[in-house]
Amino acid sequence: MKVTAIAHPNLALIKYWGRKDEELRLPANGSISINLSEMTTTTTVEFSEIFQSDQIQIGKKDVIEDSGRLAERLDRIRKLANSDLYAKVVSVNNFPSSTGLSSSSSGFAALTLAASSAIGLNLSEKELTILARQGSGSACRSIPNGWVEWNDASSSNESYAQSIFPSDHWDIVDIVAVVSSEKKDVPTSQGQKLAQTSPFFTARQAEMPDKISKMKTYIEEKDFVPFGELVEAEALNMHAIMITSTPSLIYWSIGTLRLIKQIKKWRNEGLPAFFTINTGQDIHILIEKGNLTALKKRLINIPYIQKIFVNKVSDGAEIVNQHLF
Ligand code: PMV
Repeated sequence: MKVTAIAHPNLALIKYWGRKDEELRLPANGSISINLSEMTTTTTVEFSEIFQSDQIQIGKKDVIEDSGRLAERLDRIRKLANSDLYAKVVSVNNFPSSTGLSSSSSGFAALTLAASSAIGLNLSEKELTILARQGSGSACRSIPNGWVEWNDASSSNESYAQSIFPSDHWDIVDIVAVVSSEKKDVPTSQGQKLAQTSPFFTARQAEMPDKISKMKTYIEEKDFVPFGELVEAEALNMHAIMITSTPSLIYWSIGTLRLIKQIKKWRNEGLPAFFTINTGQDIHILIEKGNLTALKKRLINIPYIQKIFVNKVSDGAEIVNQHLF
């Protein structure tokens, strides 16, 4: 059977950086995210006797047989379904990959939903999040709708994600400002392994439960300024861990730093906007819907911004009828 799924990358407000179990991809702490409406991965999967091996095509690249982590995911799904059928997988993003825009979260979420349905498994949302997590940790947060929490747990069965507020709970907008098209030189999954080499990692971990609880309160009460301040402080805290790891990880470019300073300046001028950054140079700017036009007007005049995506908070992964092959 052929199934197509669409998933959105998610933006972590409280981030996952470092794992307590590498093999199971158990994060060192819980995290909270939103799904980003205008950015998508679409993935079609078909299992069939006519395929002699797995065929995986990502973006415009030719079909390559057997491709690492993805093939591993297919093996896992075959095992769960007790099947030995090979699959054809075609996946496309409508946004750049490997630049820190979390394409692995939407990629593994869409693959998990499409492949498990195509092979005939009828998994619950919780089971889907666990399966997606094993492909790329943050992918578990792209399965449920809206505002999502991935809980802190010490076993695989308890390390799952769930919706804590629906998509329409609060009109927050996330503008992604692409400041460079350069691909990152250290992939996120490699970077995650270095977190614990930072002398500040233990201090970060000690604060995480309190940050999670504060974040949930600010979201619940729609209290934008403390929310934004916490989002920004959390991103800088995570990047401090990266910068002080051995070897050090510096994901920012000149454009990243220039825009950080610019956003702070706009804030001082009275525009409440806050930034966060993942493993790449591009910046996410969070703003209340009422201030979106004012922010866009300012962004248009910045020559080093190559592209923007304006996202609302969206639902999670879903099955659709239009196939890619
Ligand atoms: O799930 P991974 O291995 O791609 O790591 C995600 C890392 C961050 O995006 C920086 C943080 C997060 O929680 O999404």
